[in-house]
Amino acid sequence: MNNKILVTGGAGYIGSHTCIELHQAGYDIVVYDNLSNSSYEAINRVSKLIGRPIEFIKGDVRNSELLKQVFATHQFFGVIHFAGLKAVGESVAKPLKYYNNNVSGTITLLNVMKEYNVNNFIFSSSATVYGDPDILPIDETSARSCTNPYGQSKLTVEHILEDLAVSDNNWNLIVLRYFNPVGAHLSGQIGEDPNDIPNNLMPYISQVAVGKLKQLSIFGNDYLTVDGTGVRDFIHVTDLAQGHVAALNYLQQQAVVKENGSDQKSSVGFLPINLGTGKGTSVLELVTAFIEVTKQPVAYQFAERRAGDVASCYASADKAKDILNWEAKLSITDMCEDTWRWQSRNPNGYSINI
Ligand code: NAD
Ligand code: WQD
Repeated sequence: MNNKILVTGGAGYIGSHTCIELHQAGYDIVVYDNLSNSSYEAINRVSKLIGRPIEFIKGDVRNSELLKQVFATHQFFGVIHFAGLKAVGESVAKPLKYYNNNVSGTITLLNVMKEYNVNNFIFSSSATVYGDPDILPIDETSARSCTNPYGQSKLTVEHILEDLAVSDNNWNLIVLRYFNPVGAHLSGQIGEDPNDIPNNLMPYISQVAVGKLKQLSIFGNDYLTVDGTGVRDFIHVTDLAQGHVAALNYLQQQAVVKENGSDQKSSVGFLPINLGTGKGTSVLELVTAFIEVTKQPVAYQFAERRAGDVASCYASADKAKDILNWEAKLSITDMCEDTWRWQSRNPNGYSINI
């Protein structure tokens, strides 16, 4: 079975961790990334960790001509599509940039895949498509709605993929809806490296702990939750990365079934799957765990709720277990330990000049 995979956005936070797990699972990978929100140093480090150079192409997913060259020179089994922009606040200020990158980029990629008869696709979606959920835990049949352009761009791509699956039953389109990815590789060599002041909770906590930021603001302590602070489903990035391997393994099994001709309707079509732990943890619980596990002080204060935040959001992880035979294994303690190992050894992330 062909096991060559194109990983768009493979130099980024989740992509780089996934490259390691894919390599360990025996997949042959080619990374395609424009480095707009990442550093080539991540690729260097992944290469060192896996003990061989990663094949890397610097390119934009909106560049159809370059993508065609890449597809003409490699025969891919499928594509894992991480490439996209992800800052919610920026997306409100620059919606066209987000729709262009995330929606047009995906359409361009899908067109090239179609031209080269590559029909296995794994898309990075987000729990953000569930908006403010009515029922917890959130399963994949829950209503979808979004309140910001970033979320809309993910939801729009989901709709495009649904339409594509209806139009042509050769497509195998797995949509992975990530909850809150945190943590770093066990080696401490790769991790999350925000360009600016972090928007997300865990990098903010770790930058306070390492002394780069003064104090964490906890946005809201009057939610109807266990301690008044927001509740999220934090998932270790290595578990998340392994979820992609499980999704690919599933696509490979389906390809075998189809090849054997035993089931004419064996295409996967549009298949949304949550990647979460199924467990909610409050913001205060995470901060407290981080302080306990790392023995580092983290100054914090309570502040106003952040616009657009929901009180609680955690996954039903049953579908991933049933279909992909995958479940998250790592704990909140692992997430804190591994984040701290990465942050304390790389206080400036991948930039070596500072
Ligand atoms: P990231 O920014 O670290 O990685 C994204 C990568 O894509 C970067 O290396 C960037 O340079 C590249 N990229 C962006 N636009 C591109 C383009 N037009 N052409 C080629 N490369 C491009 O982000 P991440 O946290 O690793 O997220 C990966 C994916 O998962 C994104 O699509 C994101 O929206 C989605 N997601 C992330 C989270 C999260 O909290 N991190 C949660 C849910 C979904
Ligand atoms: C988590 C909790 C904050 C920072 C976002 C995107 C979502 C997905 C994951 C991409 C909330 C609180 C945060 C801080 C705080 N990304 N917080 N102080 O908002 O659940 O999800 O990232 O798809 O689309 O919206 O994650 O880490 O920003 O916040 O108190 O400085 O931490 O209010 O309750 P969120 P987050």
